[in-house]
Amino acid sequence: MDIDNIHDPVLLQDCVSLVAPALRKPGSIVVDCTLGLAGHASAFLQAAPEARLIGIDRDAQALGLACERMDRLGLSDRFTPVHAAFDELTEALLRLGVEHVEAVFMDLGLSSLQIDRNDRGFSYSHDAPLDMRMDQTQELTAQRVLAEYSEDNLTRIFRDYGEEKYARPIAHEIVGQRGAHPLHSSLQLDELVDRVIPRFHRSKGNPAKRVFQALRIEVNGELDKLARTLPQAAIRLSVGGRIVVESYHSLEDKTVKSFMVQGLHDDVPEGLPVVPEDAKPFFKELTRGAKKANEVEIEHNPRSASVRLRGVELIRPLPERWKTRYGERARHDDETSIKRGSGKNIGANKGRR
Ligand SMILES: C[S@@+](CC[C@H](N)C(=O)[O-])C[C@H]1O[C@@H](n2cnc3c(N)ncnc32)[C@H](O)[C@@H]1O
Repeated sequence: MDIDNIHDPVLLQDCVSLVAPALRKPGSIVVDCTLGLAGHASAFLQAAPEARLIGIDRDAQALGLACERMDRLGLSDRFTPVHAAFDELTEALLRLGVEHVEAVFMDLGLSSLQIDRNDRGFSYSHDAPLDMRMDQTQELTAQRVLAEYSEDNLTRIFRDYGEEKYARPIAHEIVGQRGAHPLHSSLQLDELVDRVIPRFHRSKGNPAKRVFQALRIEVNGELDKLARTLPQAAIRLSVGGRIVVESYHSLEDKTVKSFMVQGLHDDVPEGLPVVPEDAKPFFKELTRGAKKANEVEIEHNPRSASVRLRGVELIRPLPERWKTRYGERARHDDETSIKRGSGKNIGANKGRR
């Protein structure tokens, strides 16, 4: 398998320019929360020869390929792979004895390896079991979502995560037919959506695209995990450290933006004449809103069409009350989040740092 050409990293140079300045000091640490095939990660290490990288991915196959690539590029002595979901960031760093890091990077969503693996059911263009798990050890699959969720819940998922106008009729059809004909395969789901959405109301592309995307987000708890991870990253960041995120879905970008904005403004009621030192912003914006890919990149790498890249730098120690808020939020979200039964398997591969 030619690892270098499976997945084309999106906005690679922009990401390197945002992350590498935080990694100038010897021993600096960058965490790539979405290691994938190490396209971005290897470029960070090449641009920052004094830095180490901790690469997290919940997909064991991607981790294996990333390790091969790092070995081949002679970077493995500065690389620590971790098999975990990225919302286990705090736990993963504690296990590695790491208190602070200089950069945290996320390139959300699926890698081309996952999209192209026909047996995972991510794609409507190949018939496969309705699985869609990024982590094969978790219990919740797309098939279970379709078999067990209520019509209201399915409607919410298709509407909110897929922005699907026919969310309710699709959910209604799924619930109506599943007693007699449970859905097992991506082709069955594709055909069901095709039956429900009127032909004259279809936009470009496969009409099932939005339903597949919504199911993938739900199965993998993508938005909950993102919202839980950003505060953990802020708590672990050194002053001068950076958080850089690439999102591909409007709800992901909204989550990233609203998290970053909290640290970009004075934390006082409007109109207060003097702002206490402790209430002044703790982030500096690095991207002036969200950066998008230009036409040349989109032409060369269609995955980049929906990217929104945002970055902030921590300009002073995170105020204590934000540490408390962030810590409490992470705990609260943990308690209320849907249990996906992820097989926790945090830890560096033996023999690698
Ligand atoms: C878009 S790919 C990253 C590609 C990578 N930047 C590269 O250049 O090769 C996203 C990766 O993040 C992983 N991922 C997505 N959500 C995750 C999560 N919650 N925890 C850990 N890994 C996750 C996926 O398994 C996938 O391998």
